[in-house]
Amino acid sequence: MFKIAVLISGGGSNLQAIIDNIENGYLNCSIECVISDKKDAFGLERARRHNIKTYVFDKKEYGAELSYRILETLENKVDLIVLAGYLSILNWDIIKKFKDKIINVHPSLIPSFCGKGMYGIKVHEKALEYGVKITGCTVHFVDEGTDTGSIIIQKAVEVKDNDTAESLQKRVLEQEHRALSEAIKLISEDKVHVNGRKIIVKDM
Ligand code: GRF
Repeated sequence: MFKIAVLISGGGSNLQAIIDNIENGYLNCSIECVISDKKDAFGLERARRHNIKTYVFDKKEYGAELSYRILETLENKVDLIVLAGYLSILNWDIIKKFKDKIINVHPSLIPSFCGKGMYGIKVHEKALEYGVKITGCTVHFVDEGTDTGSIIIQKAVEVKDNDTAESLQKRVLEQEHRALSEAIKLISEDKVHVNGRKIIVKDM
């Protein structure tokens, strides 16, 4: 069975989408554990409701140790690490050990509106401010940069004239839920091949 760990920092709606897609049979994988860097993340409650093991490594307590603790917990235990609304930086040690085995979902069409400090509602505020007609979400492999890894899947979302950052965020989040599970499925079926920056996805 293809084993994944999901890392969260907040509400966990992306985690919930993965849980739902396992339970409805779309995803043939198991969530070995959920790790949060915040003890009050609601995503932890979502995991507990489905009897999924949880760990909390509070970033305030662990600081730079955080990444190492996660590596210690996950090394040789999972096939893929999924960052689902996870906001702490992962250090080089874990990225090297899990090369091309860590994916992240970002709420814009990278390379637009991404990088340091660009997360959550801020991303959509910047998209509206800039006046883009199309935004969306990106699932990418995690490398040593911020939102700079090779792109696996992108889904477009049309910006409406009367959109607020909140209304736009809601529509993009719906596409994130689809894109993240789709990426996990393709990787679990070995249909994603990394060729430098270019990702070749069979079956699409
Ligand atoms: C969302 O803004 C999403 O775009 C990003 O993390 C945030 C929280 O997502 N990936 P979630 O509801 O905690 O999964």
